[in-house]
Amino acid sequence: MFLEIKGIKKSFGAGESYVDVLKGIDLEIEKGEFCVLLGPSGSGKSTLLNIIGGIDGADAGSITIQGEQLGDMKEKKLSLYRRKHLGYIFQMYNLIPNLTVRENIEVGAYLSDRPLDVDELLETLGLYEHQRKLPNQLSGGQQQRTAIGRAIVKNPDILLCDEPTGALDYNTSKEILKLIETLNHKYGNTIVMVTHNDAIKDMADRVVKLRDGMIRRNYQNEQKIPAADLEW
Ligand SMILES: Nc1ncnc2c1ncn2[C@@H]1O[C@H](COP(=O)(O)OP(=O)(O)OP(=O)(O)O)[C@@H](O)[C@H]1O
Ligand SMILES: [Mg+2]
Repeated sequence: MFLEIKGIKKSFGAGESYVDVLKGIDLEIEKGEFCVLLGPSGSGKSTLLNIIGGIDGADAGSITIQGEQLGDMKEKKLSLYRRKHLGYIFQMYNLIPNLTVRENIEVGAYLSDRPLDVDELLETLGLYEHQRKLPNQLSGGQQQRTAIGRAIVKNPDILLCDEPTGALDYNTSKEILKLIETLNHKYGNTIVMVTHNDAIKDMADRVVKLRDGMIRRNYQNEQKIPAADLEW
């Protein structure tokens, strides 16, 4: 198994403010699988993504990637794992404001041993003609595509996306979803994508629903619907 999540528990705070967020999460994801994570606000989706990404630690349980446990990695190895093998797309774009589109993407390429070709990726992202613009000269969708470019240019084994279309309108959201689908087909990255949007589950290989700190449903789609045909 490519990614094994076993018995993950996580709580925050103490006394009055104590919250039990993840109460024992077990999940297995195959290489190249496109997994969509659904659940109400506050159900722990981002928390789980941060633990898979090695950004936050769990109170119990383990994350194993290609046979290696994150918890066993020393700080240096963990930061190498994050830098070289992990792409993270946040809801807010976090672009570097004084770098162009191309330069923002090159930052990601610089972190990798095996980056994708920047020109080809700019084409795929539909950003080739915007490559010399600064983030504040771009639309929201173009900024989000730049952020996706920066994450994907590393050619990461795992791409974690937290509501990548949360701030976008219908048409732009669809463009972004089509793009993520294309990247998954073209480069075979394993994708874990958090969303509030129930319709998006139909484009995934695997659908996982979280509620009250537990996985309530976990199934594979027998027939996927291409992002282009999704309606909501
Ligand atoms: N660093 C933190 N300190 C304290 N509580 C936290 C922290 N991070 C998350 N929480 C709490 O954990 C719960 C789950 O948060 P999380 O961000 O994982 O939810 P989510 O499913 O991503 O929600 P949303 O859909 O609104 O993004 C929430 O009750 C939140 O307040
Ligand atoms: Mg969240």
